[in-house]
Amino acid sequence: MTGRIAHPKIEKLIVERWSPRAFDGSEISQEDLEVILEAAGWAPSAYNVQPWTFLYARKGDANWDLLLSQLVEFNQGWAKDASALVFIVSDKYMRSDEGNTDNHSHSFDAGAAWAMAALQAQAMGYHTHGMTGIKFGEAEAALGVPEDHRLEAAFVIGRKGPKEVLPEFLQEREVPVGRKPVSEIARAGKFA
Ligand SMILES: Cc1cc2nc3c(=O)[nH]c(=O)nc-3n(C[C@H](O)[C@H](O)[C@H](O)COP(=O)(O)O)c2cc1C
Repeated sequence: MTGRIAHPKIEKLIVERWSPRAFDGSEISQEDLEVILEAAGWAPSAYNVQPWTFLYARKGDANWDLLLSQLVEFNQGWAKDASALVFIVSDKYMRSDEGNTDNHSHSFDAGAAWAMAALQAQAMGYHTHGMTGIKFGEAEAALGVPEDHRLEAAFVIGRKGPKEVLPEFLQEREVPVGRKPVSEIARAGKFA
């Protein structure tokens, strides 16, 4: 699946978003970061409970090393040159005075929020790269994520850098990848 040929009616922002690993190590302002995370918060969610929490660090700040070290070594190797690192946490429960009930879509809704962040970042000239290559099992404790929440994924935000900052095997992968055709991902009616 190489190359990107999309229907011309699809928004450019959607087709042009992709996930590089080569970043230039530049700073992101607190304001830009908050704009991107606010955009995430504009995602729809079941009953508008907005089950997401974003744990972030900007490159070199007091939380950066703690957050970066929760990624698997492979991801640390390139994510270190991004401008911000964000961990996405979701609340497993719908909470009310009458008690808590399972929130069926807490992960689904957090995923929608991450996609909003990715598109907002793209519109502002940044790139994002999502990751589940996280030291799950220890990262939750290190980040203080409570048992009734789920550590979903992480993503970096940064400005694209030259691919030469990457080891050779990753330089080859520094290209936007394609997608399955809509005929393969969508069916009229039943699954089977
Ligand atoms: C939830 C999620 C987890 C991912 N985990 C990793 C990861 O741990 N390491 C990595 O290098 N890329 C990771 N990726 C990036 C995907 O491989 C990438 O998004 C996919 O190949 C599609 O490419 P594109 O984003 O450039 O369109 C992840 C993406 C998502 C959405």
